Amino acid sequence: MQFSDFSSPAFFANPYPLYEKIRAAGPILPVGPQSFVTGRFEIIDALLRDPRMGKTYLQSVVARYGAQATAQPVFQSLNRTLLMMNPPAHTRLRALLMKTFNARGIGKLTSIVEATTHELLECQGSRAEFDLVNDYALPLPVQIICRLLDVPVEHATALGGAASRLVAAFDLAPLDEHGLRAADEAALTLERYFHGVIGQRRAQPGDDLISAMLGVEDEGARLTDEEVVSNAVLLFIAGHETTSNMIGNMSIALFRHPQQMEALKLDPALLPRAIGECMRYDGAVQMLVRTALEDIAPGNISLARGSVVFMLIGSANRDPSVFPAPDTLDFARSASTPSLAFGAGIHYCLGARLAALELEVAMRSLLARFPGIRPVDLDGLVWHRRNNLRGVESLRVTCL
Ligand code: HEM
Repeated sequence: MQFSDFSSPAFFANPYPLYEKIRAAGPILPVGPQSFVTGRFEIIDALLRDPRMGKTYLQSVVARYGAQATAQPVFQSLNRTLLMMNPPAHTRLRALLMKTFNARGIGKLTSIVEATTHELLECQGSRAEFDLVNDYALPLPVQIICRLLDVPVEHATALGGAASRLVAAFDLAPLDEHGLRAADEAALTLERYFHGVIGQRRAQPGDDLISAMLGVEDEGARLTDEEVVSNAVLLFIAGHETTSNMIGNMSIALFRHPQQMEALKLDPALLPRAIGECMRYDGAVQMLVRTALEDIAPGNISLARGSVVFMLIGSANRDPSVFPAPDTLDFARSASTPSLAFGAGIHYCLGARLAALELEVAMRSLLARFPGIRPVDLDGLVWHRRNNLRGVESLRVTCL
């Protein structure tokens, strides 16, 4: 197994045959010096919950770009986010952010999500054809997060574009010089923008997530301005392409399974189950990475301190030992074992509730508004050349 196996056009179009081989080849396979890959549910689930496995983000930067790169704005910015931290710093920051996030009643969230969805669908008007990804799925989560942070929705396109250039630095494959410069510039742009917003909110607090982050307190602990900025940026990048890719992946799964699509149209109450199953079947996040912080031997594997493990959650979600007939999309599947599509353990997706709400409202409204929706060319889909965030570049649909 080599890193290049995860970068072929065939892999981007359909990673699941390779995942099947990886699961069959063993519980954990070497993929490079001190680096391993695993695709089995039981191992990934256990490692994600093991406190001896943690994040070593800057080390992965050194491995890919060299020691001097760690000072670059993009890596410094990502490294300050909750996503890259280990306890105890992670525990404190997550508690504060959870408090901020949960303070929003589900009612207010729902009305923001519904209003944004409605506006975007209205924009499609009676067009015979539109791009479901670029005209609907991509702007939707960015506009919602703009509203939650109370920044002008007119800034959504620019902020979303910067978030996309920044998120490219997450990929396993190193960026070229041009991509790296664009990611640096994007990090600086976003940080400058949110420092400006913080200035305004200190002077005039509002009913928004940034004011809430500035005001939140947990047993005397508060967030610094730097933390508020980095985590406002994180909310953009974590909630942006993940949710939009999932709307795209779910639509493709439904188009490829017309019977399930019909069942859903006949019984919209199936939607929450359908979302859970589509996230298992073809999730937006395919891979998570952890490092052994000490020598460990969980189950039948052993990892020396410093070993990096690439965990294929997209493969775990198709593991037949947990999900019988895993390649079948089945809304009646027992929900007794949740998939790993939102991760597991201490880094479990902070925005899972918001993401589920966005998916539900987005899909319900789309199918209600355009009951005859169908893809223009399902065979010619172009998948992003990325191995961790899975989605298509565009999805043209016709509604007549
Ligand atoms: C379908 C959409 C989404 C998917 C598939 C998804 C998936 C994930 C996964 C797998 C993780 C775990 C990362 C790890 O263990 O390293 C994660 C973490 C996170 N997600 Fe999501 N996510 C989605 C939407 C969102 C949204 C809408 C937000 C917020 C606006 C969000 C905010 C976060 C944050 C802040 C973390 C870091 C949590 C931590 O490190 O403690 N996500 N997400």
